[in-house]
Amino acid sequence: MSPRIVVVTGAGISAESGLATFRDADGLWNEHRVEDVASPEGFERDPDLVHAFYDRRRREAASARPNAAHIALAELERQLPATDGRDGVVIVTQNVDDLHERAGSRHVIHMHGELASALCAACDQRHEWHEGLAGRPPCPACGVRALRPDVVWFGEPIYRFEEIELAVSTCESLVVIGTSGTVWPAAGLARLARERGARTMLVNLDAYDDHADFDEVRLGHATVAVPQLVRELLDADAAG
Ligand code: APR
Repeated sequence: MSPRIVVVTGAGISAESGLATFRDADGLWNEHRVEDVASPEGFERDPDLVHAFYDRRRREAASARPNAAHIALAELERQLPATDGRDGVVIVTQNVDDLHERAGSRHVIHMHGELASALCAACDQRHEWHEGLAGRPPCPACGVRALRPDVVWFGEPIYRFEEIELAVSTCESLVVIGTSGTVWPAAGLARLARERGARTMLVNLDAYDDHADFDEVRLGHATVAVPQLVRELLDADAAG
């Protein structure tokens, strides 16, 4: 698929919905060691700690609501028509919450997995999942009590990366929203898009040390900057 616009999002787009980011002052990585709660070795060492970490995030995500930035992106997808064989908008998110979908976005790729999914380590089946995993429920497919969060831990391969790479390499524009740009391969997507001729924009609360990958940088809160950007993108599209 070669979309007109790829939007890459990170934890910052869900911050104003009340979900913690990772590296801000009150971020998750200030409370937990990554190697304890976001690595296969940590899960092997203490599955209860890992289940408690993700069960809490699953509950928090379920009670959070999409904010104006999520809603604006869903509006962009609805309003920006697919033209001459190109899809309109694809969201590539690092986030494991489902706020993009609950805002109405339909083309969402979760490159780091999803809290609303459980993966069976015994039979490799995935299941839509909204409950806790700490009670070691049996896998609906094989019955083994080996379900784990269906999220990508450090050292594990990204989900659907070939599809992401194709979309980023062929889009007209790429917008990066609410990410520190510190985790690869997400951090390299703007450079890849730009090398292939796309226009690249960053919307983020904090500035980066180096904005060389971006044609345009807008610093501010996503709930203010994203609706504004979407209005401008739709006006430009209408003007032809
Ligand atoms: N509006 C816009 N940007 C915001 C807002 C906001 N309201 N609040 C925070 N931000 C920005 C911060 O300035 C920061 O640059 O969001 C970014 C959040 O960065 P991180 O906490 O590092 O989150 P993220 O970039 O999504 O992390 C990437 O790291 O640990 C892994 O798997 C985890 O997917 C995650 C990945």
